[in-house]
Amino acid sequence: MDRIRIVGGNELNGVIPISGAKNAALPLMIASLLTSDTLTLENVPHLADVEQLIRILGNHGVDISVNGRRERQEEGYARTIHFTCRTIVDTLAPYELVSKMRASFWVIGPLLAREGYCRVSLPGGCAIGTRPVDLFLEGLTALGAEMEIDGGYVNARAPKGGLIGAHYRFPKVSVGATHVMLMAATLARGTTVIDNAAREPEIVDLARCLTAMGAKITGAGTSTITIEGVSSLSGARHRVLPDRIETGTYAMAVAMAGGDVVLENTDVSLLDNALLTLRRAGAEITATETGMRIVRNGNGIQPVDVTTEPFPGFPTDLQAQFMALMTRSTGVSHVTETIFENRFMHVQELARLGAKISLSGQTAKIEGVPRLKGAPVMATDLRASVSLVIAGLAAEGETMVSRVYHLDRGFERLEAKLTGCGAVVERVSD
Ligand code: UD1
Repeated sequence: MDRIRIVGGNELNGVIPISGAKNAALPLMIASLLTSDTLTLENVPHLADVEQLIRILGNHGVDISVNGRRERQEEGYARTIHFTCRTIVDTLAPYELVSKMRASFWVIGPLLAREGYCRVSLPGGCAIGTRPVDLFLEGLTALGAEMEIDGGYVNARAPKGGLIGAHYRFPKVSVGATHVMLMAATLARGTTVIDNAAREPEIVDLARCLTAMGAKITGAGTSTITIEGVSSLSGARHRVLPDRIETGTYAMAVAMAGGDVVLENTDVSLLDNALLTLRRAGAEITATETGMRIVRNGNGIQPVDVTTEPFPGFPTDLQAQFMALMTRSTGVSHVTETIFENRFMHVQELARLGAKISLSGQTAKIEGVPRLKGAPVMATDLRASVSLVIAGLAAEGETMVSRVYHLDRGFERLEAKLTGCGAVVERVSD
């Protein structure tokens, strides 16, 4: 199994290209199930989760071609992928495929909307909490579907004539359930209003793509989304928006290791809250025409308290990385996690590097230390694993991160991007 070896101590200087957003690419790919025409997505990142979803969509009958040329696929950068689902050949999403990644459960929306029936395994994904599916079931039930859990699977059946538009208010904000409702409602009869919808930029990106496919959607990016159902959707060409979590992760890496880095092909407006927090911690950040420049100001890292919240609040997907940064602050900071109940597994690994962190319920208290020291550590989930890399960049000596398959799910060419800026990071295959 691969590991990542980091020798800490180098500043980061140079340019890092930001990839297309994993969390946008996944629902966009799933949207290809809604039409018999070709959906072309540009700027698709080369990630294990994307490859897994390609397998899942293939199983449902989606014909997929990547840039038309095999060798371009190997390069990894900014792929253009064509998805064509002339007919859905299988409405079953089996456990073996769905259990590896939670987002694959989201096929339930398009399959139900287009075919009127499907059987989808309950999901897997990062072990960061119980992550139930009640909101998906409730939302689709509001559109008239009969939902039943049977043997680890959800059986979903639309009424005769298809799903019916409805007014539904989510009792809790959910990114995935909003994506699914949005997709399902595009083909429902009549108007659907989703209240308390997630406002993440990836929701807006999906809505833009669906609109290009002929859907009638207003309000994406606010808490109320209105969808007027149409009888069919067509193909479209859409560019996946930049990955704001990858952007924030590298910004935190620079704040941690020091240096001067330009993050290219990204957009500061996607992560206002996180960048404001980083500025308060002492980083200098300026928007450029194609992204942003981040410079560590040399005054040490200031302690800052954060609480994770749905967008536009501080993202839970940057919580672990920010905690890594706070381990080197000049005082005491607190990080409170409100989205997932079990998202502190990086704490004990950061402690192996010398961090001083204590947990009380959903809040971590971090006492900054003057130095971290390299050690063997274990990645536990996608975002936690990159927090260990960030900590390793600033630790003295060697840090060896095992279980890097977590990293490969969400960070494209991580070693190459960091090495290109002067870090010592390499993949070691046993
Ligand atoms: C998405 C992101 C993930 C991010 C998360 C929160 C993708 C592929 N993944 O995950 O990276 O960390 O948003 O920003 O986009 N919940 C329920 N019932 C449900 C559904 C969710 O109680 O039916 C709960 C979850 O357990 C969690 C909270 O709602 O506590 C938010 O989860 P949700 O927004 O649904 O996260 P995901 O869509 O799984």
